[in-house]
Amino acid sequence: MRVINIFPLSIFCNKIVLSNDKKDQMISEIRKMRDNSKKADYKKKGDAWTGDTQGFENLQKNIIFDEFFLEVKKNINEYLEQLAIDIDQLDIFIQRSWATISHGNETIAKHKHMQSHISFAYYLKKNSNDANLMIHDEVTRNEIIPGLFGSISSLNRKVLKKINILNSSQITINVKEDDIVFFPSKTPHSTQPTNSNEERISISADIVCIAKNSETLEHLTPPYDNWKKI
Ligand SMILES: [Fe+2]
Repeated sequence: MRVINIFPLSIFCNKIVLSNDKKDQMISEIRKMRDNSKKADYKKKGDAWTGDTQGFENLQKNIIFDEFFLEVKKNINEYLEQLAIDIDQLDIFIQRSWATISHGNETIAKHKHMQSHISFAYYLKKNSNDANLMIHDEVTRNEIIPGLFGSISSLNRKVLKKINILNSSQITINVKEDDIVFFPSKTPHSTQPTNSNEERISISADIVCIAKNSETLEHLTPPYDNWKKI
């Protein structure tokens, strides 16, 4: 039998290779942010430290990260190219960007970034045992019996004999230090819950695409210059 897989979710992975000096500078800047957390009690036991919840959500405005964001820009262009989207008709903005730090079994629970278009995770400091990225599916187009694919009892009873790419509702993307992973912001994602992290540091950002010219365009966000604050 021939299987035709259609309507993919494409995760774009690449590497950003910075000098060790630059990475050390970024790491020490991020540790400083953690040490100056503005809402330390927001982080519960077992949660990773996430800069966006602690008052440090604008790494894109910090010159220490300029070199990194130059490389990000090249990758975004390539990502949009893969999707056959004309970058010349868009203004692209980093809307916000923040770091995360995970120690021990700290995790980031499943979430999505509803206010932006593209998100990424870049692994500034990660060893092979530190948690990987998990991507979750909400559509489950192949789930012919509703509830089957996420059902532990069906798996235990072997009604679902094994998990494979056709019936998975979550996939682990194995990532290494220096990797950057782009995905649609609306995609639910998390970190692996089972790993023990040494000091895993990642950087995330939310990116929006705005039309340079809205004439005859119905669906894109129109240019900011035409907005009127009321
Ligand atoms: Fe996220």
